[in-house]
Amino acid sequence: MSKICFPADFLWGTATSAYQVEGAASEDGRGESIWDRFSHTPGKTFNGDTGDIACDHYHRYKRDVGIMNDLGLKAYRFSISWPRIFPNGKGAVNQKGVDFYNRLVDELLSKGIEPMVTLYHWDLPQALQDGGGWDNRDTIGCFADYGYRMFNILGDRVKLWTTHNEILSSAFLGNATGEYAPGFADIALAVRVSHHMLVSHATTVNAFRQSDCRKGKIGIVQYSSDIYPATSSPEDAETARLVDGICNRWFWDPVMKGSYPQDILDFFERNYRLRAIRPGDETLFKENPVDFLGVNYYTRFIVKKSSDPHKMGYDTVVPEGSDVTDIGWEIYPRGLYNVLMRIHKDYKSPLVYVTENGAAYDDPPASGKIIRDGKRIDYLKRHLAEIRKAMDGGANVKGYFLWSLMDNFEWSHGFSQRFGIVHVDFKTLARSFRQSSLWYRDIIAENGFNI
Ligand code: GCO
Repeated sequence: MSKICFPADFLWGTATSAYQVEGAASEDGRGESIWDRFSHTPGKTFNGDTGDIACDHYHRYKRDVGIMNDLGLKAYRFSISWPRIFPNGKGAVNQKGVDFYNRLVDELLSKGIEPMVTLYHWDLPQALQDGGGWDNRDTIGCFADYGYRMFNILGDRVKLWTTHNEILSSAFLGNATGEYAPGFADIALAVRVSHHMLVSHATTVNAFRQSDCRKGKIGIVQYSSDIYPATSSPEDAETARLVDGICNRWFWDPVMKGSYPQDILDFFERNYRLRAIRPGDETLFKENPVDFLGVNYYTRFIVKKSSDPHKMGYDTVVPEGSDVTDIGWEIYPRGLYNVLMRIHKDYKSPLVYVTENGAAYDDPPASGKIIRDGKRIDYLKRHLAEIRKAMDGGANVKGYFLWSLMDNFEWSHGFSQRFGIVHVDFKTLARSFRQSSLWYRDIIAENGFNI
């Protein structure tokens, strides 16, 4: 047995997002978001589930912070619901929405838990979507204005900020595959949206530097994947290079190098008539570097070429017999090491937080008081060990935010996928500890674990 230790100031946290946990969807002046509209559209989510109530965190936040305190969490990553602050996306601030986040932040700080705030975790105000959403460049300005307001409101207490959570997912799953809100199936639209969202990121970083929150740090959270070809054919090798470009480099390069990767730019221009880039956009990227990068990692991708015109030239495959979580994602901890080392080497070792990592598992039949979830513990342990290895290799990782504190609304999967270390009974909304939460508590207390 050997012990894996982390530095004393390593930030141990958990993560959630507003639409997935808050509920109170039409309370205290909150406006409609694209996820309200989407989840209420028949056939879009498993079982027709919606985030109307979710975990009711809006009302139970104090007890939830109490749970975090019991677990000894050092940090909590959550997102602000834009339509709670600006019900129509812009205009007058809804003070009751602001009050909620003030209360939440104060409660966290009173327990010594550091807040990390995400401005956009996919819940665009529906009113802005009605005006074209992220396909309309006006949304960029609305987002920066919303960010600026929040920096000034919470910036005296919140030091860690991120603009977007996984632009890849919201742009492409929302507009190309239609699995997520707003539910379109138009690849060219998704490509334009991804560009506008990246510009909105840089514009909002710029707003951050002008705000009263200058002492804080700002970053972006990116879906980060390790990509492999399905076979040794040159065709699949080329496909893997392309997918890596679309999923990783298209998002990492502008944020950390200040410009798009030329091969993917050419690919998007050639195949999807990308004309959305305006003079000045790349200057914005260059002039607004991030303070840190948030890495979300769950699985690797194995890809092969596809000629289906509805796809971007590729399919993903899960090798037969591979170990998967309940959501069907292959367990591949080594991929997290690879991603962290690559970011360290290709982008001059930026400051990194692992902003999401976790596993969906249903519970075994109850036995005793604590819900046993050994498979989740095993998943987490193996990924944390890879993070430590990457840190030994020089990667500048400063914290880990486990997804998720508690079971919640897993987008189009509704409540069918449970990612929490705390179990939520969606009928009574009661919370109960899983074994993994107590295991995580011990890791935090000891700053490490035995393997
Ligand atoms: C994401 C989102 C989370 C998900 C989690 C599990 O990364 O997709 O940030 O909201 O719930 O990743 O799928």
